[in-house]
Amino acid sequence: MIKDELQALKRNWEEGYFPQWLVLDPEVYELEQEKIFGKTWLFLGHESELKKPGDYITRMMADDPIILTKNKKEEIKAFLNSCSHRGTRLCTEDYGNKKAHTCPYHGWTYSMDGDLIGVVAGNKLFGEKMDKSEWGLRQVPRVESYQGMIFGNFDKGAISLEEYLGDMKWYFDIMLGRSNGGMEVRGVPHRWIAKANWKMTAENFAADPYHVQSTHRSAVEMDLTPTSDPMYASYGHQVVLDNGHGINVITSSTGESANKYQGLPEYLWSEFEGNLTKDQLDVFSKVTNFVGGVFPNLSFISTGSGSEETKHNHINFRVWRPIGPDKIEISVWYMIDKDLSEDYKEKSYKGFLNTFGAAGTLEQDDTEIWARIVEASQARMARDRKLSYNNVINYLMGLDNLQQDKEFPGPGIAYPTCYTDHIARSMHEYWLELMTKEEGEET
Ligand code: FES
Ligand code: FE
Repeated sequence: MIKDELQALKRNWEEGYFPQWLVLDPEVYELEQEKIFGKTWLFLGHESELKKPGDYITRMMADDPIILTKNKKEEIKAFLNSCSHRGTRLCTEDYGNKKAHTCPYHGWTYSMDGDLIGVVAGNKLFGEKMDKSEWGLRQVPRVESYQGMIFGNFDKGAISLEEYLGDMKWYFDIMLGRSNGGMEVRGVPHRWIAKANWKMTAENFAADPYHVQSTHRSAVEMDLTPTSDPMYASYGHQVVLDNGHGINVITSSTGESANKYQGLPEYLWSEFEGNLTKDQLDVFSKVTNFVGGVFPNLSFISTGSGSEETKHNHINFRVWRPIGPDKIEISVWYMIDKDLSEDYKEKSYKGFLNTFGAAGTLEQDDTEIWARIVEASQARMARDRKLSYNNVINYLMGLDNLQQDKEFPGPGIAYPTCYTDHIARSMHEYWLELMTKEEGEET
C-alpha cells in the first residue's frame, strides 16, 4: 500500500535525500491528486483577464475543466465547465464575452452566475419534477484572490488563501502591488505540453538557481544574461516560507543592483514608494531577479533578461499542471504594470518571448533537462523502492554549513546565498506531510 510506504518513509525521513522512485510512481501520482491537488490553493488566472461583465475564461484546475465568469455585479465566479444535463463541456472557447452560455448539445442556457435560465421546449418536455433552480452549474467550492491573482480550492474547509500564502504576500506586494494601476496580463497565457514531472519543474523555479550557470550556459554565451561568473545566480538570499513556498531574491555580487527597482522607469518610482514599506523598497531596490514558487505548482520569475534592445523588466507566472506522472501542461502568464508606457510594455514583452515564452531560449534549456529527468527516472535502478542510499537524489546543498541571515529585511527564513537546497527540502517535507495526512488531521 502506497500510504503505508509513505508513512514508513516519513518515519525514516532523512533531510537532503529524496528517493527517486517517488518522481514517477503512478500510485504516488494518484495520491497527489487527492492529497495535494484536492486540498491546496490552485492558481486559475488574473483578474485583469476578466475586465467587464460577461467576460469569461476557461481553465483547467488539476483535471477539472473550469469556467470563470464576471457577472453583472462584477463578481468573479468559477464553475465546473460541464453542462448539468448530460455533462458535456459547456464552453469550448479559451475566452470571450457573452450574456449567457448555451450548451452545444441540447441548447440549455446558463447565466454568468451559473444559473440555468433556459431549457429548450422546457415547459412542454419536462414536468414538475424539473426545478430549474436545482440545475445550475456546479461551483468551485472556494475561490479567492490576492493582488489580482485568482485561486481555487476543491476543499471547502481549507484555510483562507491569504493564510495559505502567508509571508509570500509580502513578496507578492512588491511584484504585483507596487504600482497604482496594478498588473495586467498581456495577451493570453501561453500553453504547451512537456515531458516532465510537476515536482521537478516546481522545484526548478522555486528552489534551484544553482542550475542557471550550467543549464543556461548558452544564454551567457549569447549575452542574454549579464555575466559569465558561474556564481552569478547565487548572490542574494534564498528565503524559505511556510507551506512549501519559497523565493530567491537574487542581486548582483555586491548585494545591490546596477538598476534600481529592476530598471523600471523613474516615472513609476513615486508610485512604488507610496505603495511599499521601507523594508520592501530596500529589497526591491537591490534585487535583479525574483524567482520562486507557491506550493504546489505555481512558479514565477521577475527578471530583466533579454537582448540589449529588449532588456526590460517582465514577470511571468506559470502553472505546471500534471497530466500524468511524466507529463505536464505548462501555462505561462506574462504580466506587466498597467501604468507603464506602451513602448516599454512592447519591448518587455519581446524580452519575455525571447527568454521565457514557449519558444524562449531559457525555457527550451529547462524543458530538455526535465524530459531527461523523466527518461532516467524510468530506469529499473531508479525505481527501486527499497530505502537505500543508492536510489535517492541529492538535496544536501547548504544542509549543515549555512546559517540563517537574520539581517535580511523580508519575512521568512533567509539564507545568504541562492545556491542552497533549503527551499527544496522544505517543499519535500510539506509534500510528505500532505501525502501522509489523514482526513481531519491538522498540519
Ligand atoms: Fe447540455 Fe444537453 S448536455 S443541454
Ligand atoms: Fe532554468
